[in-house]
Amino acid sequence: MAEINPRKPAWSGRFSEIPSDELLAFGASLPVDKRLWREDIAGSKAHAQMLAKQGVLTWEELQDVLRGLKEIESEIAAGDFVWDMADEDVHMAIERALTNRVGEAGARIHTGRSRNDQVVTDARLYLKRRMRQLASALNTLRRTLLELAEAHKKTILPGYTHLQKAQPISLAHYLLSFSQMFARDFRRLLAAHEAADLSPLGAAALAGTGYPLNRKLTADELGFSGLTINALDSVSDRDFFLDALYAAAVCQVHLSRLAEEVILWSTEEFGFLTLSDRYSTGSSIMPQKKNPDFAELVRAKTGRVIGDLNALLITLKGLPLAYNKDLQEDKEPVQDALDTVEASLRVMTGMLATATFHTDTMYAAAAGGFMAATDLADYLVVKCGLPFRRAHEIVGGIVLSCERHGIKLQDLTVDELQGYFAGFGRDAERAILVEKIVENHSTPGGTSPKAVAHQLEQTKEAFNTDEQELALYL
Ligand code: ARG
Repeated sequence: MAEINPRKPAWSGRFSEIPSDELLAFGASLPVDKRLWREDIAGSKAHAQMLAKQGVLTWEELQDVLRGLKEIESEIAAGDFVWDMADEDVHMAIERALTNRVGEAGARIHTGRSRNDQVVTDARLYLKRRMRQLASALNTLRRTLLELAEAHKKTILPGYTHLQKAQPISLAHYLLSFSQMFARDFRRLLAAHEAADLSPLGAAALAGTGYPLNRKLTADELGFSGLTINALDSVSDRDFFLDALYAAAVCQVHLSRLAEEVILWSTEEFGFLTLSDRYSTGSSIMPQKKNPDFAELVRAKTGRVIGDLNALLITLKGLPLAYNKDLQEDKEPVQDALDTVEASLRVMTGMLATATFHTDTMYAAAAGGFMAATDLADYLVVKCGLPFRRAHEIVGGIVLSCERHGIKLQDLTVDELQGYFAGFGRDAERAILVEKIVENHSTPGGTSPKAVAHQLEQTKEAFNTDEQELALYL
């Protein structure tokens, strides 16, 4: 049988001339969309099966198509398939390979289908797969954070606001704050999964088709939970990509905040943690250096993920209905963003799991300084009935004088405290012990060991529910 000339595009019937190679390359999406080959083949199989059931393809033709697609699938999976960049996109590449292999039947597969509904079917299937992968990588990080929180319920360190020491907290309390961010990210990923979970196949170019398609059949076969409602919207809608990009961008922003803390904490100035050598790099000139390059890259790559979200929003803005070639630019930002977040999740998981936390340094940083000031003021409110503003003023004066004398709050004896305010009792000294302070902050969501134990329980419960939900999809 005659090979289709790859230089001659499938649509060239009404053309007397075709664009130059340079232009064809400019218009091609194959280098990007070939990653959707699994979904493209699955979509074609489902479509062909449905066409045969509806009497549009003969059963012999269906057998040929399925055999051909299966061979192509194995070839691509084995890395033996030759991608010919002269093919415009993954759809044309696979259709051409199929027709070369099985002849006529391959050329009939496109009956009642347009690349417009084909590409968005692939895109939705692809996105669902990637959301599940990403959610699973995210949960590995969530598990690591839970294990660390469990191990550090008693570790005390300074909590910061404005990057100034604010109040002592437990490391578990700190770690669990990230657990909440990543729990929300998980929900956003699954929401994007749900947004993608409707089959547009059968919308054809924009108006549906006259062939007796059974859209429900292909939707079920492909694992979609329902059908899109309007053909025009079906071929132009990329909201599910936007949802995924937003979820990805927020997740990467969270990762960048975690990365930034790791970078700060691993400085000599903080000294709260040491990264494993496996997660550090050296300097080519300064032998003493151990750089947190990977955390810095996670921080930096956030810019590109946010850029990816912007890129697609801007591509979609003002786009007339329905399909426009502009939409071909949708896949690259999505792939880039999801690849970046997935890699960053793995990097941060390994980095945290292998880091050494210097709990003594954390404790010393929490016990020194003036973080007990708020609690000393609270003492005056609770024990002496002072208005908080007045208590704030008295303690402010004590801090100022400590600073002048180069001493810490904890260095003051009760007699000295009474020199500032006669109402201080013998128990004032104890009120400013960091352990005591942490223990005092016992409102739900607070840092006291009891409140943190409850947080830990709630967080684990939500995590287990999420894991079970994800397992249903995997
Ligand atoms: N490569 C195209 C894309 O990624 C596929 C759809 C092309 N459809 C068309 N009518 N030209 O969007």
